[in-house]
Amino acid sequence: MQRIVSGMRSTGRLHLGHYLGVIQNWVKLQENNECFFFVADWHALTTKYDNTKDLRQDVVDVVIDWLAAGIDPKKSTIYVQSMIPEIAELNIYLSMITPQNWVERDPTLKDMAKILRTKEASNSQISYGLMGYPVLMSADIMMLNSDAIPVGMDQVAHIEITRDIVRRFNNIYKTDFFKEPKPLLNECAYICGLDGNKMSKSYDNDIKISDTEEVTAKRIMSAITDRSRLRRDDLGHPDQCEVAFKYWEIFGEKDQIETVKCECEKGLRGCADCKRQLGAIVNERLREIRERRKYYEAHIDEVHQIIREGSEKTRKEAQKVLTEVRNLIGMY
Ligand code: TRP
Ligand code: SF4
Repeated sequence: MQRIVSGMRSTGRLHLGHYLGVIQNWVKLQENNECFFFVADWHALTTKYDNTKDLRQDVVDVVIDWLAAGIDPKKSTIYVQSMIPEIAELNIYLSMITPQNWVERDPTLKDMAKILRTKEASNSQISYGLMGYPVLMSADIMMLNSDAIPVGMDQVAHIEITRDIVRRFNNIYKTDFFKEPKPLLNECAYICGLDGNKMSKSYDNDIKISDTEEVTAKRIMSAITDRSRLRRDDLGHPDQCEVAFKYWEIFGEKDQIETVKCECEKGLRGCADCKRQLGAIVNERLREIRERRKYYEAHIDEVHQIIREGSEKTRKEAQKVLTEVRNLIGMY
């Protein structure tokens, strides 16, 4: 049995990109691994430190979406990063041994910095904390001495740094205490946003787990199709249908996809009808998840209790690791 840790920033309600790209993988992994999943609220602060009014609600919304998607608190431990102060202490030790140019070279961080610089917002400065993003992530992972980290592609560069930090720690303090964590990539299909860009709340091109069926159906009607097709009986090209057909390939059954392809190519299927049908299929797939979501929304105390218990359990594990780390370094 492997120990698995992963987290997501508290960005509020989650969309299908999160679900298909990451959470679905977690749901599978919890069956035969010791899983810890946490909301990274400190990481959210690296860019949103001056806009914290929704922070608490964002954390709760993320956890509700996880529970709705099938993360089972009897199988997995769910916690909130800032409830584990041990992580902050480990972050200090790791920040001492991490060369500055390792974080400066982190490509994901460079992208984040670029986005920040293009904003006119008051916080276009890159803070010391943001530079420490991959070190704090390493503290999250090493806090539980994890074997593997299931994440999306975009996080792999960070985890490479974690592996370097693990090796450096073991080297400096002459130990083999920390394991080198492996990234676990999801084999699931990548889902783009309704406009063909990366699915993201900030591009307003997403489908949220928490949206109603009506909203989902309506938003799917805006999905990009084959741009060369102007009339209903024009011959279509599913391979040039930038978004709608891709969604069909993710959500449809094999024979449905074949039918769509055939009818589209022969000009027997209008895009509006096609997307109406697609909307119904996406909603069908999300039905059970949305029902579970409603349950947890109505039982919010249960959600808080899950977080509390998970955080207590995680702290106990973290304290064991921290005691060892303090000894290895030689702290008072
Ligand atoms: N950086 C991750 C994200 O943006 C969240 C995260 C923080 C994380 N610490 C982690 C993921 C540790 C895996 C392991 O979603
Ligand atoms: Fe895409 Fe369907 Fe329109 Fe064909 S009919 S172009 S698959 S939306």
